[in-house]
Amino acid sequence: MEQQEQFTTRLGFILTAAGSAIGLGAIWKFPYIAGQNGGGAFLIIFILFTIILGLPLLLAEFTIGRSAQRDAISSFKRIAPGTKWYYIGILGVITCFILLSFYSVIGGWIISYLLKAITGGLNGLDSQQYASLFEQTIANPVTSLVVQLVFILLTIIVVAKGLQKGIERASSIMMPALAILFIILVIRSVTLDGASTGIAFLLEPDFSKVTSKTILEAMGQSFFTLSIGVSVMITYSAYLPKHQSLPKSAFSIVGMNIAIVLLAGLAIFPAVFSFGLSPDAGPVLLFHVLPTIFSQLPFGMAFFVAFLIIFLFAALTSAFSMLEIIVSVIAKGDQAKRSKAAWIIGIAIFIFGIPSALSYGLLNDFTIFNKSFFDLADFTVSNILMPLGSLLMAVFVSFKMKKSALYEEIKRGSNISQFIFQLWFILIRYVAPILIIAVMLDVLGVW
Ligand code: PFF
Repeated sequence: MEQQEQFTTRLGFILTAAGSAIGLGAIWKFPYIAGQNGGGAFLIIFILFTIILGLPLLLAEFTIGRSAQRDAISSFKRIAPGTKWYYIGILGVITCFILLSFYSVIGGWIISYLLKAITGGLNGLDSQQYASLFEQTIANPVTSLVVQLVFILLTIIVVAKGLQKGIERASSIMMPALAILFIILVIRSVTLDGASTGIAFLLEPDFSKVTSKTILEAMGQSFFTLSIGVSVMITYSAYLPKHQSLPKSAFSIVGMNIAIVLLAGLAIFPAVFSFGLSPDAGPVLLFHVLPTIFSQLPFGMAFFVAFLIIFLFAALTSAFSMLEIIVSVIAKGDQAKRSKAAWIIGIAIFIFGIPSALSYGLLNDFTIFNKSFFDLADFTVSNILMPLGSLLMAVFVSFKMKKSALYEEIKRGSNISQFIFQLWFILIRYVAPILIIAVMLDVLGVW
């Protein structure tokens, strides 16, 4: 891989890794899953998982990546030559392939809405009309496929060029802009009539709604929003210079992620309740609610366009990371191969994603295990493959890598104490594997 191409600053690295982390997971997925799982209780369990499992696992991936300085698969081969541990990297590649196939569907929805907002197609409707307009839009097979393709093409073009050029700089502007727009939205949302029910829904936990499924979803969601368990963070940290602090980077990314999730929740739920919509509407929730909130703001549609552009950007920076990990495994630093691989894999992902794109229209009634293609792909990635990848990663780091080598790598560029290191090691070696296995077995009904 391109060892000579490194991040210019730690901030650049943080923003790019945060760019992978912050995306549809926080902005689109969190509100609707929390909406289906009782709101506040889900939020608390999600935050707990993020701190107890997500943060240590993120640091673990950074440590693997920066010590090996290779792509997702070669990193394992370098650290554990002659073993089969590199299958973790292969698992990550497969996971990212499936992930991008449905992620691009939502990316396409954003593009559709952006075009509608720019051309005035969203002016002056009420909340029910916005809801049905959205349902019609995603049921149209041609539109759904075209916009999904556009989203994938944008991803291919950037990844084919090589990752750091442009992304690092663009992330540095877009991420703060996203936070500012969200703050404006939150202010509007919490000052709507009847907003307090939504605020209470998010901030007053009702644990009576918590089931084993809620816990699995909260764990899956914390892995999903941090992009962990799929070797993406290994791939990115391989580009990180040795003098940068890994723990600080991990803390910043987790902090930003939780902040964006909270902002998204505070922007959406007060509005959902104020407009009499249902918080458990599922994947369409965000698209029902946002146009309604924006239409109540002065210059609302202009704001909505700005929001959609930034939202699209957040989705793209996550999509880049999914394609990047597959491409870097194949290209290994060869620019000609990089470009070809990006195109071939990108198109293959599009084809694989067609059934997901049609899940809300033509294939509406087609289900496997009671789930649409879209839901099945999402469930497999978020609740099976990502937890499994994270589990294997934790076992690899804490049982296969030398503890002294881990300490050395983590200490480079940081002044982390022996105590914190020990705590991290215990979390990775014992707490993470036991918790992940327990939650997965629980859902299978083993207890
Ligand atoms: N973290 C991204 C989000 O929350 O939208 C999703 C994601 C990106 C997951 C990259 C996994 C990944 F490898």
